[in-house]
Amino acid sequence: MDFTKVVLASLLIASPIAAQEGHGVSPADLERGMQIFLNNCAGCHGPDGDLISGVALYSGRFRRAQGDNELRRIVQNGIAGTPMPPGNYTDEQAGMIVAYLRSMAATGGGKLTGPPGNAESGKAIVEGRGQCLECHRIGRQGTITGPDLTGIGRMRRAVDLEKSLVDPDAEIRPDNLTVRAVAADGTPITGRLLNMDTYSIQILDARSASLRTLKKDELRDYEVMKKSPMPSYRGKLSEQEISDVVSYLVSLKEQM
Ligand code: HEC
Ligand code: HEC
Repeated sequence: MDFTKVVLASLLIASPIAAQEGHGVSPADLERGMQIFLNNCAGCHGPDGDLISGVALYSGRFRRAQGDNELRRIVQNGIAGTPMPPGNYTDEQAGMIVAYLRSMAATGGGKLTGPPGNAESGKAIVEGRGQCLECHRIGRQGTITGPDLTGIGRMRRAVDLEKSLVDPDAEIRPDNLTVRAVAADGTPITGRLLNMDTYSIQILDARSASLRTLKKDELRDYEVMKKSPMPSYRGKLSEQEISDVVSYLVSLKEQM
């Protein structure tokens, strides 16, 4: 049986709540769909799918497509006579992208529920009381313990940014994992995981800001952390302050 078809059919008939619980949709498929979307579509459509006027990719409603087959065809063939380009996607990949578009609609179109934020106040919190720059870099400021947030507004939806702040453990992207190791002489080592094979681990060492290759058999111990080193800001910042920080992050669209 064609798995993608089953998934898409179940997404179509499922209530938004059921779809949110991921009935029949493999999280790995959605993650792939999201990656393709962020890398190849968000440049024009925006990470929230709302940058092109008259086109609301987050809404689940499309002017030029009724069902998922038509959507997949648009993703693969583009729309002739418009800037919407064809893409060299397999049916499976196109299915993952469409599943991701459907999931955006199922999660409330990615609209935030908090009060409207003020990017200016958010910037002050990020650089001050939030102490975000102790772990993150934005432009020329900050450190590299955590991911670089320069341009994060082009890569992530506002809802996902909000989730990072209030529930950092909920989802850690595969490229944002932290390794904690202990050298043979007892020295602790932490860094961002870049690559791991049978014999070695490559990390970005936050303290020395450099790439390091650790040989597994020369370590006393190592683990890939399942929890985020980032603290949750739920309760530490008010709802208004969280919205302000999210607005500021959303505004970081330029690569400096
Ligand atoms: C170069 C800019 C550009 C890129 C890249 C791009 N699009 Fe588009 N897309 C557009 C434009 C402009 C339109 C509106 C075309 C029109 O109807 O006039 C559009 C329309 C669409 C539509 C139809 C919307 C509707 O309401 O019927 C879908 C679906 C869509 N794009 C999905 C995607 C996906 C998925 C990707 C990535 C795989 C993507 N687009 C990449 C510019 C782009
Ligand atoms: C103690 C270090 C630390 C502090 C302080 C910290 N972060 Fe983080 N942050 C991390 C690490 C490590 C990750 C990557 C793991 C993860 O996704 O949780 C991360 C992830 C993120 C992400 C997700 C990035 C992505 O690629 O999706 C965002 C957004 C973020 N942090 C924003 C902030 C903001 C804003 C603040 C201040 C209010 C802050 N962080 C404070 C360490 C920190």
